[in-house]
Amino acid sequence: MSKTHRIAPSILSADFARLGEEVKQVIAAGADWIHFDVMDNHYVPNLTFGPMVCSALKPHAKTAAGAAVPIDVHLMVQPVDTLAQAFAQAGADYISFHPDASAHAHRSVQAIKASGCKAGLVFNPAAPLDVLDWLIDEIDLILIMSVNPGFGGQGFIESALRKIGQARKRIDACGKDIRLEVDGGIKVDNIARVAAAGADTFVAGSAIFGQSDYRPVIDAMRAALKA
Ligand code: DX5
Ligand code: ZN
Repeated sequence: MSKTHRIAPSILSADFARLGEEVKQVIAAGADWIHFDVMDNHYVPNLTFGPMVCSALKPHAKTAAGAAVPIDVHLMVQPVDTLAQAFAQAGADYISFHPDASAHAHRSVQAIKASGCKAGLVFNPAAPLDVLDWLIDEIDLILIMSVNPGFGGQGFIESALRKIGQARKRIDACGKDIRLEVDGGIKVDNIARVAAAGADTFVAGSAIFGQSDYRPVIDAMRAALKA
């Protein structure tokens, strides 16, 4: 199991009027990745931001020392391919999509990788992992939704733990370096359980951006992961 945990604050819960500042502040507070939730008012009811906002934020996604901080794009859009290409050009590092939103999931994965990005597949709370039978060798990340996609601030769905465990088994069996990310309802008080189930990468929106100071909550998440 990967011991290198990553905390990926979701800017869905940031102050949209000050997004660049928010990205800088959350990186200064210890964020490992920036999670970028793209919603299209079609695959999900909500509507957020597109590739132009990603391009605008890209120069801010670095540490004070100048090291690049990965932009982790979570596409909740249908269809997938046009926007995936636009996000690759906009500076995304990881691009993940819901396989049920693509007519040809294998082709979408290939296109994301050909554009120079790492590719991920996202599984909704009621979605089976079957597509991994055919795609696990092609991808860099599996994202397990522990809420239904579309909104921040929802409660963690417990059955996600079982699915994380199943995904972890598949990753270990294939032996490839694949990140296992979880998204939705992650807080200081449940992150350790989620890690114990097998996750190594943790999206958190409201838990981080809902605080006035981001550093203490990120530190508390890391302490919980260490303990
Ligand atoms: C939900 C998004 C999540 C969301 C998580 O569709 O994919 O990334 O921002 O928010 P919290 O951490 O508030 O549950
Ligand atoms: Zn997300």
